Amino acid sequence: MAKEKTIFFCTNCGYESAKWLGKCPSCNNWNTFTEEKFTRAKGSQSSWKSTSKDREQVQVLSEITSEDKPRISTTNLELDRVLGGGLVAGGITLIAGEPGIGKSTLLLQIALQMPCKVLYVSGEESAHQIKMRADRMQAKLNPECLILSETNVDHIADQINDTPPELLIIDSIQTLNSPALESAAGSVSQVRQCTAELIKVAKSRHLPVFLVGHITKDGSIAGPKVLEHMVDTVLQFEGDQHLSYRMLRTTKNRFGSTSELGIYEMRSDGLHEVLNPSEILITQREGDLSGVAIGATMEGNRPLLVELQALVSTATYGTPQRTPTGFDNRRLNMLLAVLEKRCGFRFGSSDVFLNVAGGLRVEDPAMDLSACVSMVSSLEDIPVSDRIVFAAEVGLGGELRAVQRMEQRIGEAEKLGFEQIIVSKFGLKGTDLSRFKIKVHTFANLNEVFSLLF
Ligand code: TYD
Ligand code: MG
Repeated sequence: MAKEKTIFFCTNCGYESAKWLGKCPSCNNWNTFTEEKFTRAKGSQSSWKSTSKDREQVQVLSEITSEDKPRISTTNLELDRVLGGGLVAGGITLIAGEPGIGKSTLLLQIALQMPCKVLYVSGEESAHQIKMRADRMQAKLNPECLILSETNVDHIADQINDTPPELLIIDSIQTLNSPALESAAGSVSQVRQCTAELIKVAKSRHLPVFLVGHITKDGSIAGPKVLEHMVDTVLQFEGDQHLSYRMLRTTKNRFGSTSELGIYEMRSDGLHEVLNPSEILITQREGDLSGVAIGATMEGNRPLLVELQALVSTATYGTPQRTPTGFDNRRLNMLLAVLEKRCGFRFGSSDVFLNVAGGLRVEDPAMDLSACVSMVSSLEDIPVSDRIVFAAEVGLGGELRAVQRMEQRIGEAEKLGFEQIIVSKFGLKGTDLSRFKIKVHTFANLNEVFSLLF
């Protein structure tokens, strides 16, 4: 007979305890314990119970030949970019995002496009519903794409043994359950167990796996934090559900950089890659508008031109508001303080709104200068020419500081037909400005920029 016990799990780190605790002794977080009925059925064993045959042998590191295994392209340029060049054999990738953002759509598209044996396991939709989605996308159907509507992780394992795929897609990890445990699907112990079993099969078969992960209300990945520790790559799918653009960001990558960004557009026939994002991030407008400035930012290795829009208006109620969207609030306050103290602009009694166009979130300090220019342009109500791009960090003394990868930013501005770019005069050593046709202004501080513009 199975023996049932109650176990308490920390939802953050997966720590187990026999009684409820207010504070997790392992990760020190408060109020993270949840109760779960935990039954390990007698005699039950995981389908991947290791035998001595599977046991790996120790190897001398210096004697291991590093075979340069090529990345497996997903045939989707944006996804390859965020993965760091493509899939890695045996690599587990978790794609997390809010409901309805397009996780299932993206992965079904990959399953239909990749010219290899794909097993798409869905615990959320029936095979019939998946077929309807595929029809909607009007994609060329991959004849080797197998669909399995299943939630039992042991049955999935049997299926993998019967028809070994070259790519496994699990939609979603929260719907799987392992018969070794009797807790409900989606509980901490189940998510941990199912992920562990999938990792075992992926590593032993050198099978790349995509896992879909749900997100909780506060934006973190549902299930224990250990889920993120267990997988190799974590991709976050985000974007406004009401806008059609979707961003795919890497938040963890054992095989590549974590600063890459992929951009998609959701259309009626699925997700389309956006290969020239700068063109969509700069809104088309007629005539000059005050409060708008274009900055050159870097997302990973890719330069992007992004429009910043500021609105400075007289505060009607008490304390003036500072409301950034897609821009860091503290950074905005710092820039306003610099503009007051070093350049003599008065924002003290004004509301300041600062928006990054296209629903993007920018963290690159090179956007500082364009933020300052857009706010001053709105305050003074003097438009800035829409043919100028800005790229410099602003220091507390109002000085312009150098940013990385200047040549790529200037190159992107030139490619998109801009006439001038304003950058810091420092840190340009080794940058050959003469090869650019675009006019590059180099300045030391904010006041020099403002005397050129206003
Ligand atoms: P879905 O992939 O089901 O989201 P998730 O798996 O992340 O929960 O995406 C569903 C949304 O995408 C839904 O609101 C409809 C929309 N959609 C399109 O706009 N075009 C399409 O071709 C498809 C398949 C979905
Ligand atoms: Mg889905």
